[in-house]
Amino acid sequence: MPVTIVVGTQWGDEAKGKISDILAENADIVARFNGGDNAGHTVVNQFGTFKQRLIPPGIFNEKAVSVVGPGVVLNLKTITGELQDLASRGIDITDRLWVSPRCQIVLPYHRLIEELTEKAKGDLKTGTTKRGMSPVYADKVSYNGIRLFDLMDREKFLKKVSTQLAIKNPTLEAFGFEALDAEKIVDDELEKFELLRNVVREPFELIHNALIDQAHVLVEGAQSTLLDNTWGTYPYCTSSTTVTGGITAGLGIAPKWVSRVIGVAKAYSGRVGNGPFPTELLDDIGDHIREEGQEYGTVTKRPRRCGWFDAELVRFSSMLNGVSEIALTKLDVLDKLPEIKFSTHYESSETHQTMRYWEGDADALFDCDPVYETMDGWMESTAKTREYSELPEKARNYIERLEGLIGYPISMVSVGPAREEIISKK
Ligand code: IMP
Repeated sequence: MPVTIVVGTQWGDEAKGKISDILAENADIVARFNGGDNAGHTVVNQFGTFKQRLIPPGIFNEKAVSVVGPGVVLNLKTITGELQDLASRGIDITDRLWVSPRCQIVLPYHRLIEELTEKAKGDLKTGTTKRGMSPVYADKVSYNGIRLFDLMDREKFLKKVSTQLAIKNPTLEAFGFEALDAEKIVDDELEKFELLRNVVREPFELIHNALIDQAHVLVEGAQSTLLDNTWGTYPYCTSSTTVTGGITAGLGIAPKWVSRVIGVAKAYSGRVGNGPFPTELLDDIGDHIREEGQEYGTVTKRPRRCGWFDAELVRFSSMLNGVSEIALTKLDVLDKLPEIKFSTHYESSETHQTMRYWEGDADALFDCDPVYETMDGWMESTAKTREYSELPEKARNYIERLEGLIGYPISMVSVGPAREEIISKK
């Protein structure tokens, strides 16, 4: 069966982009189903280094079609900027890109509403990427959203924006922002829409014909499982469905077509933004991991919080997404650590009973005690290793212990950002 999904099992930034980039070499369609330009990928390949937020990674395979599914929310400035950047570097994908007209668009008021909401929450803020994600998804589910369909008719678009401003401007003004002008928004967005118009076409039939022909469809989930709006550490999460089950709503693919789910996990943990992080390291080791792993946000450049591997969370994410295998990434980041810890499970700090992630909410995680095991580090570079058997024995011990704790096979180990820095483990 033809669909492979690549999904993050932690809080994002697991280097999913690299895994997708490798798999995209043999894909016929590469698609996204959720999120917006809050996502950020760095892909390093023979064409150079690319930081993309909206266009899926299949663009470097000339035979693959890239699809932005209806569950994605679009900032038109970002997507048209990405298209222009690629074109200026000799990669023209106009013929190979399909953007669903069902995509909601992010408008200037979404970012302002997010800003005032985050400010009002004070210490309890989510610490978002400031791309207007939660207001645009909130408008979608409350039938106040504006989709690419609406931009095809200026009068209809203007009417919808004016209605939204009648509701939103008083709020913006009450919080000290200037009221927005509907005509200006419409003109600005339509100017960008013109650059995109040729690729706005519903990919539903294209995908279905491909599925029937047994073509290979690669789907990449943006953000990650623990940021899912329902199963993540709510309200320290994102606003979309990030888990594999989101592909029906967000892309139009029924579950029966999925044959392979690759859960991507870093060999340690990390997150940006606020929220619980049981295995967080607030010491020199955390700083070391941040520097070695270059753990700074692709979108916001914020330093990422770093910590030890958390098996409870990756096990949960693997169960939830139905992973068939795990790609363990950034192992090389741990190369210089003499001692490596990882958490096997949690205990309640009050009762010392085992706590399961799914039983509590985000607050429960603030109160849990991760139970750690410690292993000797391997203290040598793994970056040039290409055969699993050639990894240091201590590194293999670490990988195999994590595999046992997760309960799903680790099929690949990544030891650097470049495409070839990957080891197959079967
Ligand atoms: P939002 O998606 O911008 O609303 O941010 C909500 C939370 O998700 C914040 O903690 C962000 O830092 C986090 N987040 C959103 N997108 C990503 C991502 O692509 N990688 C990692 N964290 C993300």
